[in-house]
Formats: sequence, structure tokens, C-alpha cells
Amino acid sequence: MSASAPLHLIRHPLVQHKLTLMRQKDRSTNSFRRLMHEIAMLLAYELTRDIPTVDTEIETPLERMHSPVIDGKKIVFVPILRAGLGLLDGMLDVVPGARVGHVGLYRDPTTLDAIEYYCKLPDDSGDRDVIVLDPMLATGHSAIAAVDRITEAGARSIRFACLLAAPEGLARFHEHHPSVAVHTVAIDRELDENGYILPGLGDAGDRLYGTK
Ligand code: URA
Repeated sequence: MSASAPLHLIRHPLVQHKLTLMRQKDRSTNSFRRLMHEIAMLLAYELTRDIPTVDTEIETPLERMHSPVIDGKKIVFVPILRAGLGLLDGMLDVVPGARVGHVGLYRDPTTLDAIEYYCKLPDDSGDRDVIVLDPMLATGHSAIAAVDRITEAGARSIRFACLLAAPEGLARFHEHHPSVAVHTVAIDRELDENGYILPGLGDAGDRLYGTK
């Protein structure tokens, strides 16, 4: 899978519509989680549109034919804990054979730096195409730290999937990882002083899990 241009805006009306619903502050936890699941399925479809296929010979009820199947080793999804988990199941609904790695990072509340507390990636991820999942690319610190770890472990390609990106975070991310494509549904205006995206959708983890 090639990650050509570094920034891809996903403009599909269904995705845009669902994101608008997710931004609404009175949306319930249940509905927010459901919408994230639905968007994740649609993002998986977009993100895998250039995945390599190979022709294989099969037999239909009527005759033999050559027909394409996905080539080679499978994709690895790597959600950044915890909000990235909200995108995982929708992606797995569409790509059920994918492997899953996890990177656990939290933001230091003062410096906003990403601190790693967990990392488990498939042993053979060097041969695989990795898609990193985090609904929010805010300061970019978590995204950079996650991609640093995945690069160390090895990957055939890496791309980053999110719902919202802040211009500051995008710039920082591309400075560190110029060849890693970012796929996002929207680029919002700016970050506030606490590192939240404006207008944004609030704290994605809290809204997914009802913790606030
Ligand atoms: N993380 C979130 O969940 N929301 C933001 O706005 C920024 C980072």
C-alpha cells in the first residue's frame, strides 16, 4: 500500500454528516459511540482503496475464472489508547483479518507531551501496512510518539487516520514524519490553551466512554 500525498481530506457526505452529529454537545454517549463506529467503517473503505490485490483462480457454480483477492500480509490497525479504540471495531468490521497493535499514551497535563505507558505491536509488523487510529490529531505529540514507536518496530507503510486535525498538530506531525499520510475528515481552526481542538467535539475519550 503506498502512502502518496501526505494529507487526505475525506469529504464523503455520509462521513461529513456523521461528524457534524458527533460534534453536537447534547449527543448521548451511546449515539456518539455508534457514530464513531459508523464513520470508522467508512474510513476503512477509503483507507484501503489502494491496497494491493492479486488475481486468483476460483470456480463459480458455472465456470472457472480469475478474480482478485487482497495480496500478501494483512493490515495492522494500531489504536492510540484510549480514544483510538472508538475507531477500531468499525475498521475490523470491514477488514476482519487485520492484526491489532496497541499504543498507550497520555498527555502530560502541563507540558501536553505524550507519555507512553503501553506498547504491544505484532511481531511481524515489518512486513505489514500499519494504520494508526486516533480520532483527534490535536498537538500532534501522541501521533508523533506512536509513529516513532511503530517506525522503530518496522512497518511496510504507515498512515494515520483521524476525524479531526488541528493545523498546529498537522504541521508538527508532518515536520517529524513527512512521508506518513494523514487521513482526516476535517481540519478545524486551532488549538485552545489546553490543547483542545476548536471548534472540535470535546474530549473524544470522555464522550466515547461517558467518563465526564
Ligand atoms: N483530544 C481530544 O479528545 N479532544 C481534543 O480536542 C484534543 C485532544
